[in-house]
Amino acid sequence: MERELQWILVSAICASSLINILAQNTEWPHSNLASIDYSGVISIDCGVNEGYTDKKTNLQYQADDIKFGEIYYTSSIYNFDHVSQIQKQLNTLRSFPYGKRNCYTLTPKQGKNKKYIIRAYFAYGNYDNKQKPPVFDLHLGVNFFKTINSTEADIVIRVEAIHFASTETIDLCLVNIDQGVPFISLLELWPLDNSIYESSFTLLTLDLLTRVNLGASEDNNSFIRYTDDIYGRSWEVPNNYNGNLMNTSSAIDLDKLVDPYKLPAEVLSSAVKALNSNSLEFTLNYVMDSEYYVYLHFFDCEDRTNKQKRRLNIVINGFDDDNNVTQFLTLSYWKPQSIILPIKQGVGIWKILIEANSDSELPAMLNALEIYRVVPQLDSATQQEDVDAIWHIKDFYMISKMNWQGDPCGPKNFTWEGVNCSSGDNPRIISLNLCSSNLSGEIDASFSNLTCLETLDLSNNELTGEVPEFLAKLSQLKLLNLSRNMFTGSIPESLKAKSSNNSLQLSFNGNLRPYQTESGKGNHQKFIIPLVASLTAFVAVVLIISTTIMVIWRLRKKGKVISSISVKDELLKSTNKVFSYSEILIITNNFTTMIGKGGFGKVYQGTLECGKRVAVKILSSPSAQGYREFQSEAKVLMHVHHRNVVSLLGYCDEGDTNALIYEYLAEGNLQQKLSDKNPNFLDWTTRLKIAMDAVNGLDYLHNGCKPPVIHRDLKTSNILLDENMHAKILDFGVSRTFANDTDTYVTTFPAGTPGYLDPEFYCSGTLNKKSDVYSFGIILLELITGQPALRGTPENLSYILPWVNNKLRTGNIQEIVDPRLHGKYNAASAWKFIGIAMSCLPQVPIHRPDIGHIALELKECLSLELSLERTVSDVRDSLAMSSRQIEFH
Ligand SMILES: *[C@@H]1O[C@H](CO)[C@@H](O)[C@H](O)[C@H]1NC(C)=O
Ligand SMILES: *[C@@H]1O[C@H](CO)[C@@H](O)[C@H](O)[C@H]1NC(C)=O
Ligand SMILES: *[C@@H]1O[C@H](CO)[C@@H](O)[C@H](O)[C@H]1NC(C)=O
Ligand SMILES: *[C@@H]1O[C@H](CO)[C@@H](O)[C@H](O)[C@H]1NC(C)=O
Ligand SMILES: *[C@@H]1O[C@H](CO)[C@@H](O)[C@H](O)[C@H]1NC(C)=O
Ligand SMILES: *[C@@H]1O[C@H](CO)[C@@H](O)[C@H](O)[C@H]1NC(C)=O
Ligand SMILES: *[C@@H]1O[C@H](CO)[C@@H](O)[C@H](O)[C@H]1NC(C)=O
Ligand SMILES: *[C@@H]1O[C@H](CO)[C@@H](O)[C@H](O)[C@H]1NC(C)=O
Ligand SMILES: *[C@@H]1O[C@H](CO)[C@@H](O)[C@H](O)[C@H]1NC(C)=O
Repeated sequence: MERELQWILVSAICASSLINILAQNTEWPHSNLASIDYSGVISIDCGVNEGYTDKKTNLQYQADDIKFGEIYYTSSIYNFDHVSQIQKQLNTLRSFPYGKRNCYTLTPKQGKNKKYIIRAYFAYGNYDNKQKPPVFDLHLGVNFFKTINSTEADIVIRVEAIHFASTETIDLCLVNIDQGVPFISLLELWPLDNSIYESSFTLLTLDLLTRVNLGASEDNNSFIRYTDDIYGRSWEVPNNYNGNLMNTSSAIDLDKLVDPYKLPAEVLSSAVKALNSNSLEFTLNYVMDSEYYVYLHFFDCEDRTNKQKRRLNIVINGFDDDNNVTQFLTLSYWKPQSIILPIKQGVGIWKILIEANSDSELPAMLNALEIYRVVPQLDSATQQEDVDAIWHIKDFYMISKMNWQGDPCGPKNFTWEGVNCSSGDNPRIISLNLCSSNLSGEIDASFSNLTCLETLDLSNNELTGEVPEFLAKLSQLKLLNLSRNMFTGSIPESLKAKSSNNSLQLSFNGNLRPYQTESGKGNHQKFIIPLVASLTAFVAVVLIISTTIMVIWRLRKKGKVISSISVKDELLKSTNKVFSYSEILIITNNFTTMIGKGGFGKVYQGTLECGKRVAVKILSSPSAQGYREFQSEAKVLMHVHHRNVVSLLGYCDEGDTNALIYEYLAEGNLQQKLSDKNPNFLDWTTRLKIAMDAVNGLDYLHNGCKPPVIHRDLKTSNILLDENMHAKILDFGVSRTFANDTDTYVTTFPAGTPGYLDPEFYCSGTLNKKSDVYSFGIILLELITGQPALRGTPENLSYILPWVNNKLRTGNIQEIVDPRLHGKYNAASAWKFIGIAMSCLPQVPIHRPDIGHIALELKECLSLELSLERTVSDVRDSLAMSSRQIEFH
């Protein structure tokens, strides 16, 4: 038998999801839409701030009000006009630089036990100027769906799943696999009729590999999507077109057809047809290690004089062995028919053959073809009641743990922090550890819906109210830790009973803060009463001596006694934790790892109970000034919350131990990063970004805090970097708050660090906001030059500012900018950066701008740099693109 039609349809599984071959069509004519309810469609234009109605399609697009990730625009040279209908939506995207898994949780209004199309688009468009599209995984629900891997910046990847939702919500998660930052451009959900895209198991998820409108001719170039297709399916045009078309000129009234698949008229009105008794053959290349479903759509619209019959034999593969999948089909005139061919694992799809049966009076034909891969379901979703309860808890306490996204239990590597689950089908939450999680308010009733809980740790929070009775109803509960909260009232009898018969281990100690606990006071009294009683004879002596000591003590450490009360008062109001000395020992593992050292004392690495890494700063010798600085820092940080200011997590003020517990910043300080000894020196853009972060932190201290905070000791060693190289300001030991903007602090003892110190200070001994601006200018010079503020020996000191001034006179920028960069920066942004630094450094403070102004200037400088980089890469791109075109033609 002759096979005259041959396509190599798809050569690799993913090839069909690249839609850069799709053709353009700006007209969206269609009629049969009015009768359909589109309110169930969810369309999220990732990266926009506000929802809108699309003018071309009238579809409602939502903004992605997701808490995580960052918004970007694709580079303007990629305008994606080949997908004109969603061109606008592809221009913005959201990327997820933080966290391993980030999820969109869709809540379709049709609810669970319903089939949906989930569709996502990824248009990289070189948004990050790296010319390197990332590779990342996509999970649907708790299961791996597919890896997104595009090799070219201009490619748009579309993925589409037919998903049977067994839960009320559907999670689509982007998973970082350390090959670039995951991102997404557009996400859609369309409700489907449950009766279509049937498969042997309803609970399946299908991954679209190809969907081709075979009758479309390449030169007709029609890309069909919503509004032509009421499910928003896009139908590809076959490539390597090489066959016979048949079409109908009669109008197709979709409303009169019985077609559960609701194929668009464009698909129904044309088909490929074999000549006479020949067969249609499609050559494919789908591997054997997956299970597939092939859907073939027929609509016999060929006008005929007699009632000629068309009877077809469909064979998939058609080799000698048991791997034939066959089906027989009789088509009726003007009646849509779709058939499903399941392909078992181990078979693969190599060839689809459609031949006219021997008794057929008309040749073989086919309108459209869809192939789906069955997505293996290795994990199952957490039991719905537990999901509802834990999400309610998350919302109620506004828990913002980064990985509390998607399903709480699955997949196993992504189980929520502090959550432990049973294994097996529909896992249950069996343990919940929310210790030190900043919970406040009462214990919410939804805890009682976590009926399989064995362990519940709510210790070390600010929970108030009474301990509720319903906790006793958790029949599996073996451990309940409520210690270190602010509960009032007594423990319910039912809980006490469980605890006394040892079925429940209950911890309830420390339900007021440690320094004012009942037990604390008790100990004190127990100690004092016997002492006084047994030493009555010495009372007078003791009194005299102790009074004398107190007086001396107060004279020496006046600051400490007086203001320690106020610090404690403020701590009471703040959310920071108070730690005891013994806890500090545990946190730092007996001061094992020292990570820093300064005039104030040493800094150790530590780990909190829940595994959070921290830095613990211990004040060394308790001098009056040291203690003042310690207090000053604690006070400032308690009120200061900004992403570019290091945050204080806790505090210890016990006896001679004064410690501050900070968040841990993995990349250390800027001084180390700029040092000659650091082999991974910072690139230009990173330097600009660090300057931007630092200026934002400082602007917040000066202009965002009431009263304003003057840092007074800004230097590169006080700027710390987190794992993403975001900068944060640290060390408020000598900072001061000022009642108003014009206040100036007159000091007699030196503050600040040589090399950074405002020259005005030497003359007048005064420091104000403008002194910080000066120090900041020096930091900018260090970022630009890579040199320290001060070099050389005490006899032969070299300051950075005169050095730069000298070089500026010659006008040679290359001699100023860090030679390690080897010219990898744009001269324009370098000049601007130097200009900004110099503007901070006039001798006379009033000639220095406000830090807010510097922030604006730096922002401009950074965007200048980024746009210049873009221009350079755009030129490179267009060169690369034209060379590609040459290759093709
Ligand atoms: C991504 O695609 C490229 C080119 O096809 C391939 O070399 C690479 O191995 C792929 N990466 C992953 C993680 O699949
Ligand atoms: C080809 O395009 C024309 C107009 O652009 C349209 O009217 C016609 O229906 C298309 N034909 C097919 C087979 O899609
Ligand atoms: C329909 O088919 C005829 C020939 O079979 C062809 O001439 C005509 O252009 C086709 N119409 C469309 C809209 O493709
Ligand atoms: C499989 O199909 C081919 C082509 O139709 C046929 O020649 C072969 O006999 C079939 N094999 C079996 C085992 O049915
Ligand atoms: C807890 O369970 C009850 C009864 O099943 C239900 O009415 C309530 O909505 C649930 N609460 C949460 C937060 O899931
Ligand atoms: C998840 O765990 C499996 C094995 O348990 C491992 O093969 C896989 O790489 C892990 N995935 C991630 C993203 O860590
Ligand atoms: C979770 O369960 C596993 C196995 O039962 C156990 O080893 C682990 O310590 C538990 N983790 C927590 C946080 O409870
Ligand atoms: C703790 O909770 C309070 C309000 O409940 C919030 O303002 C604060 O930012 C939270 N702190 C942390 C570290 O989550
Ligand atoms: C309860 O929590 C406190 C503070 O987090 C901890 O010190 C204590 O060991 C816990 N008790 C039990 C029984 O786990």
